[in-house]
Amino acid sequence: MNADGRSRLDQLPEWNALAAHRQELGDTHLRELFAQDPGRAERFTVSVGDLHLDYSKHLVTDETLRLLRELATATGVAQLRDAMFRGEKINTTEDRSVLHVALRAPHSAVIESDGKDVVAEIHAVLTKMGTFVDRIHSGEWRGHTGERIKNIVNIGIGGSDLGPAMAFEALRAYTHRELEFRFVSNVDGADLHEALRGLDPAETLFIVASKTFTTIETITNATSARRWLLSGLGAGQEAVAKHFVALSTNAEKVAEFGINTDNMFEFWDWVGGRYSFDSAIGLSLMVAIGQDRFREMLAGFHLVDEHFRCAPPEENAPMLLGLLGIWYGQFFDAQSHAVLPYSHYLSKFPAYLQQLDMESNGKSVDREGRPVSWQTGPVVWGTPGTNGQHAYYQLLHQGTKTIPADLIGFANPVADLSPKLAAQHDLLMANLFAQGQALAFGKTSEEVAAEGVAPELVPHKTFRGNRPTTTILAAELSPSVLGQLIALYEHKVFVQGAVWNIDSFDQWGVELGKVLAKRVEPALTEGAEVPGLDPSTAGLVATYRSLRGR
Ligand code: F6P
Repeated sequence: MNADGRSRLDQLPEWNALAAHRQELGDTHLRELFAQDPGRAERFTVSVGDLHLDYSKHLVTDETLRLLRELATATGVAQLRDAMFRGEKINTTEDRSVLHVALRAPHSAVIESDGKDVVAEIHAVLTKMGTFVDRIHSGEWRGHTGERIKNIVNIGIGGSDLGPAMAFEALRAYTHRELEFRFVSNVDGADLHEALRGLDPAETLFIVASKTFTTIETITNATSARRWLLSGLGAGQEAVAKHFVALSTNAEKVAEFGINTDNMFEFWDWVGGRYSFDSAIGLSLMVAIGQDRFREMLAGFHLVDEHFRCAPPEENAPMLLGLLGIWYGQFFDAQSHAVLPYSHYLSKFPAYLQQLDMESNGKSVDREGRPVSWQTGPVVWGTPGTNGQHAYYQLLHQGTKTIPADLIGFANPVADLSPKLAAQHDLLMANLFAQGQALAFGKTSEEVAAEGVAPELVPHKTFRGNRPTTTILAAELSPSVLGQLIALYEHKVFVQGAVWNIDSFDQWGVELGKVLAKRVEPALTEGAEVPGLDPSTAGLVATYRSLRGR
């Protein structure tokens, strides 16, 4: 017990019970677990909306799951969840509500922050977005010289880029193909340079996405884009109104930049950047897929929100996934978590989840500011199958590390594939199922030897197996299913942060680098003296300047 009356996580009896249970489980193999209990495949599956999750290939028994649920009860996960849905300020270090769940609540819902209902204003912004999108599609919204808008360039970074860019890729099959979409995030001028290649300024609309509207990368790129536009059109500042819109919480900064606040789509400080893409930050996606599809996606999010809020712990998918991650991180020393989508459209999904998970749970002090002595968020990584199989899966199968993985696949290919290409889908999915099987059950040395393999090669061709995976299946990657998938991971991250007693909604860890970059920049450009610069960095700066011929 600490001075404030809270028990440390690692002193809870529920935590110790899990540690003891881990000892008992020892090296028990999934082969044994399935042999003793063939019913586990059926029992350890859960359906949420259109998502079907099989978690039977995890190193758990009914007892493990019971103990994990007890840990969730002891750490007050459900209470924190309910506080979030009530709009309480659970982001304590920033003194903010955490209400991304309100962004997809139906019009009839009432959710309050600071005693004020937020649902009505969310729907007002959605309506404004929809009107804007319809005007782009119909050609009513035209550029400064009267041309139709054909190119949309989203400028933003972090949550103001990863969500829209990932979702555009995921739902490409649903997009208005006659419009061109590009996403610019990096302050490396090459990003904007390549994005603008071949575009006619007269037909180009910039969506500047920034919650704070102070992020240096975004403001720098937006300023360069404005220069490109005005010089391309040979026009003055008055042209900005038809070619720039802003997505932000900061009307003052938007106006300062020169964007008319009538062309600003608002959101609020109780939406975290990495939880924001179903707010106005999703405008580029709404232009791409239209407002009806966008609303289908929001309904998908909401469906999983309701599941998370209401389903009992033993059927609660985000709760289960969160607890399983804690099990491996703490008791199997798993340092990372692989997300392996068997859909090329989800190629940016792992990168999106990296921010969601690692910016939320990459913390090492608890809510009270005390250092934690337990593992927190994992390194999240992955790329689409089957590409990864020919690259890093070797380590997943035969390396020394425990890396839990999510295999995500869809029964149907997207509708607009030709029949010949659609026929490749079974091969894609056969690979997903094969990987889950191989990772779990492996191949014993006896099985290898029985194939007549030379004895000295047997160890090299043996697969230990016992490598945990969750398989997530849905009928197809629709807007609603994408919303469901994202909400599933959002709430998984929530559960883990709640158990670890960390603030999953701040991101102070990104600040120091920003401050230091500002301090070092004059040393690069002007050779200015930076007081207190360490000898290593000073040497690197000198080398940089000499390589740049300065
Ligand atoms: O620096 C980190 C961060 O604040 C992220 O949390 C956020 O998604 C990103 O920068 C972009 O911030 P903004 O939307 O305010 O430009």
